[in-house]
Amino acid sequence: MASPADRNSSMRTTRPIRIDVTSERGTYPVLIGAGLTRSPRAALKDLGLPEHALVVSAPAIWKLHGTPWESVAGKRGPVLIADGERAKTLATVSRLYDAFSENALDRAATIVALGGGVIGDITGFAAATYLRGLTVIQAPTTLLAQVDSAIGGKTGVNLPSGKNLVGAFHSPSAVLCDPEVLGSLPRREFRSGLYEVIKYGVIAAPALLETVERESRAIFDRQANVLTPLIAECCRIKASVVMADERESGPRRALNFGHTIGHALEAITRYRRFRCRKECRLLSDSALPCLNR
Ligand code: GLY
Repeated sequence: MASPADRNSSMRTTRPIRIDVTSERGTYPVLIGAGLTRSPRAALKDLGLPEHALVVSAPAIWKLHGTPWESVAGKRGPVLIADGERAKTLATVSRLYDAFSENALDRAATIVALGGGVIGDITGFAAATYLRGLTVIQAPTTLLAQVDSAIGGKTGVNLPSGKNLVGAFHSPSAVLCDPEVLGSLPRREFRSGLYEVIKYGVIAAPALLETVERESRAIFDRQANVLTPLIAECCRIKASVVMADERESGPRRALNFGHTIGHALEAITRYRRFRCRKECRLLSDSALPCLNR
């Protein structure tokens, strides 16, 4: 695999792709750009958003991607919580409430969720409910979160009786997708996100399937120049679906294709066996042999 520097050197000055999503809480941008989160303060400033925020992440993610966010987090540093489906509980949300309170956050506070889908869901839910709603910015670090969970305002946690049973629709004020950060993603997690891309191909854009097949080598090599337009296309589809049906009364249900049975498998195995819902491989490798890399 080429080094991140080699892969992305030509992308440094490229302007991010911007997709605006209109929600009940207003219109927010989804930016997709290689190197976008190397200077998150500049990105936030360009968007007219506060440059300082309480950053929530997980220890392993902060170790990999935290340095550029230090200037956003400031002296108080990040709030680090456990990651993984088994941490997606009300107890973790309660820990975040304590951290928000210790940091004397008021309604003007901004929270950044730096991580994958679990960090985004937990942090988004804590932000949705603390002081009846704080501003949240999603900075997804997995392919799955970049193409799906960071967009559309679904937040929440699991109960022992089922997945995502407690939650709120709480749109972010911005989503910052940086394909460069995917270079460090474990292969299994990367493939899991790729199943989401396939999902969009199946439900809305068959051409995406051809793109994945044609570009599979570059995709698995995490080449930012190939990943950027691919992620942007998925974000466009997601944006158009959630704008048509934010609260999932109809068309948004199509986005759950492959999720529903995956969530059930996760729940009955107590979130131990299936770490990533898409790993159930309902969108089968056999349908697209190029995924067997
Ligand atoms: N992840 C499915 C949805 O956002 O509706």
